[in-house]
Amino acid sequence: MAEKVSGKNEAAPRLMAMAGSMREASVNRRLLKAAARMAEREGAEVETVDLRDLDLPPYDGDAEAAGGLPPGAERLKAAISAADGLLLVTPEYNHSIPGTFKNALDWASRGGGRVYEGKAVALMGASPGAYGAVRAILHLRQVLAAVGAWTVPGMVALPLAADAFDEQGDLKDAQIGGQMEALVKKLIAHARGNAP
Ligand code: FNR
Repeated sequence: MAEKVSGKNEAAPRLMAMAGSMREASVNRRLLKAAARMAEREGAEVETVDLRDLDLPPYDGDAEAAGGLPPGAERLKAAISAADGLLLVTPEYNHSIPGTFKNALDWASRGGGRVYEGKAVALMGASPGAYGAVRAILHLRQVLAAVGAWTVPGMVALPLAADAFDEQGDLKDAQIGGQMEALVKKLIAHARGNAP
């Protein structure tokens, strides 16, 4: 049972973290790891879901009608349901979300239950270019609104990401590190139900 301190719920919130890239060397995976470590330092429990491991087929309504959801979609739905909040990090492909990432989010919106409903979500993105995936982050916010998630105001958009991390995997730029800390703290407060 959650312990209440000063009228607030201080139990460790559970976050599900996922990056929308399949690549091993992905800058978005690196950003996700840095954010997840920060969230753990702030007292959260973080479960990272690997997009590649979900092994999802492209969404096909006929396949769904015939066989239901694939195992990866059920796994993703279960991870979202179990979480108090989501940490999502997106690459930018042609000014939007990678199709593979959108496909995973779409699969998880199918079947019984509205797993995203009221879920607090923090959005981040990274790009080797100058805009830090900001256009993809805005599209991701729109998608999450469609499924009833509650996106935390603000974002972390990391430009020039190929050279943005130190040897420990932390962000070199203190200003963006500060933005990440603020966003992670807001996500945790909302996940705990403690946000003002
Ligand atoms: C890209 N990339 C890219 N970058 C960007 O800042 N804006 C964009 O619109 C695009 N468009 C785009 C389309 C496609 C099809 C690919 C494959 C790539 C470059 C992209 O940011 C770069 O490959 C990142 O490294 C992808 O993220 P991960 O895999 O490193 O996390």
